[in-house]
Amino acid sequence: MDRYAVFGNPVSHSLSPRIHARFAELMGERIDYGTVLAPVDGFAGAARAFFAAGGRGCNVTLPFKVAAFEFAEVRSERATLAGAANFLAAREGAIHADNTDGAGLVADLESNLGAQLRDAVVLLLGAGGAARGVIAPLLSRGPRRVVLANRTEATARELARRFAPLGAIEGAPLAAIPQAPFGIVINATSTSTRGEPLELPAHVFARDALAYDMAYGAAAERFLERASAAGARASDGLGMLVEQAAESYALWRGKRPPTAAVLAELRALRP
Ligand code: ATR
Repeated sequence: MDRYAVFGNPVSHSLSPRIHARFAELMGERIDYGTVLAPVDGFAGAARAFFAAGGRGCNVTLPFKVAAFEFAEVRSERATLAGAANFLAAREGAIHADNTDGAGLVADLESNLGAQLRDAVVLLLGAGGAARGVIAPLLSRGPRRVVLANRTEATARELARRFAPLGAIEGAPLAAIPQAPFGIVINATSTSTRGEPLELPAHVFARDALAYDMAYGAAAERFLERASAAGARASDGLGMLVEQAAESYALWRGKRPPTAAVLAELRALRP
């Protein structure tokens, strides 16, 4: 049976084994998808051992996405733009890195949530690894304007400059986000997963905007409740998780699994 795994630290909470097991069932395939708890400073050793033992591919979650990118011998363009990888595959004797997070976000926004990215005015909050992974795929959908707002203004401006050749993106400090109004507001800061407050100007959530938190479940609640109170439609990032997994599965196995049923099952498990 082909072996896959998700590497992380911590990793026991990961939904990826459940998602990939359901994909395989739905596709009539048999795969073995487990978890690997790698030491915080030991990703390369753990990955080397996994692939030496015949592992076909892995997903990579915090804190190893940069280490995974560096570990690979061949890197996709979107992983290179992100400077991080959530996907590795052993192919023709080499380890290939990719980043399926941005494609997962775009698929969730457009296919599951019915949002239009073309011509949209988008506010992306955060300029760390999570934000970097999704900027190029967002810009590839042709939004009219993307404002990248970050607590540390210089990081937002630097990142916006780097991605400017790909589309209309500008940096801003969180405290001085322009009045847009924004049709889509995406929280890619680490505040939700860390349970920290995120200071935002009141005008950020327009009535009927879509507010999206890349975290899921209880972690996303604080951000999404604030958005809902302002009249925005709110979604956590569970769909992004399922869609990035589907993109990974398709890259490994050449066939794309259906996602709607799997997402509905996960939602039913986590009311
Ligand atoms: P990740 O991989 O989850 O993106 P990261 O690379 O450490 O984690 O980036 C964290 C992001 O969340 C950064 O944009 C960070 O802002 P700074 O660049 O100013 O550090 C943002 N962030 C973290 N804590 C925050 C807080 N309390 N308020 C606002 N933004 C915060």
